[in-house]
Amino acid sequence: MRSTRIVEMLEVTEAAALAAGKWMGKGDKVAADDAAVEGMRAAFADVEIDGTVVIGEGERDEAPMLYIGEKVGHGGEAIDIAVDPLEGTNLTAYGQSNSLAVLAFAPSGTLLHAPDTYMNKVAVGPEAADAVHIDATPTENIRNVAKALKRPVEDLVVCILDRDRHVDLIREVREAGARIRLISDGDVFGAVATAIEGTGIHLYLGIGAAPEGVLACTAMKCIGGCFMGRFAWRSDEEKARAVKMGTPHMDGVLEMDTLVNTDEAAFIATGVTDGEMLRGVRYFGGGARTNSVAMDAESKTVRFIDTIYRTGNEKFWVRRD
Ligand code: FBP
Repeated sequence: MRSTRIVEMLEVTEAAALAAGKWMGKGDKVAADDAAVEGMRAAFADVEIDGTVVIGEGERDEAPMLYIGEKVGHGGEAIDIAVDPLEGTNLTAYGQSNSLAVLAFAPSGTLLHAPDTYMNKVAVGPEAADAVHIDATPTENIRNVAKALKRPVEDLVVCILDRDRHVDLIREVREAGARIRLISDGDVFGAVATAIEGTGIHLYLGIGAAPEGVLACTAMKCIGGCFMGRFAWRSDEEKARAVKMGTPHMDGVLEMDTLVNTDEAAFIATGVTDGEMLRGVRYFGGGARTNSVAMDAESKTVRFIDTIYRTGNEKFWVRRD
């Protein structure tokens, strides 16, 4: 992707984060999400693209904005857009770490239109990209990743969503000897963190939302890690809806190229609340400061971007913290 396009799109996640950040700790996840969606939708109006939302806030009849199939931008290159204006609505509502405004984009027809269901996921950073498989047991994946990272299993940290459905998974990971970082929400961060030094997370395992799987996979495409999945249907009705939508690979392995079928994808996230990967939005009276990451598969770049939106004449500081 052209770097000018990346900067344009960066303003879209920044707009969502700036709007959602105002709701940090206010206990209202719906209001936080609405603010993010409105911020993101308005910012898209300035972007010169012929964008189609392939992953968004839901189907047309259930989402007034950023619904699947909605056209965004005011004309230009045809691209697929996957959005999660506020990934981790509860994290923002309760002032917890790692909520993000997220966006991925790629040439038209290349991002999988993931239905609103669950996905079993495994993700790992580039050094262990060949060491995992969605069909391997958690124990096998853990042993293979430890070997690839040249460290004992005891020094491995596995990130898992804290959910009842993961009781057996958590038990097996503990029995295998690895340590666990349980997260209450936000598995895009959990998966992407495996590829970023310093987050302290080496492997992501477990079932989360399918659309978030495509977003995380785009990031892993950009930074060379591995992401693999398989839909985890919650009901026959859900499955039937997906068949009607024409969802491919209903029960098969979702390889990276199935989820993101291009080497020209890009992934952008702006921090809403502070986290290990990004700082949250900071409002300082005379403006606000955002912290984002923009990954581009084609140019193999990862940019960490610090942006100051000035509304007054206050001085701003040079250091990030
Ligand atoms: P929201 O941002 O929509 O609240 O979703 C956050 C999230 O934790 C995702 O990161 C994750 O994939 C999904 O919810 C898990 O779903 P569930 O809460 O139903 O287990």
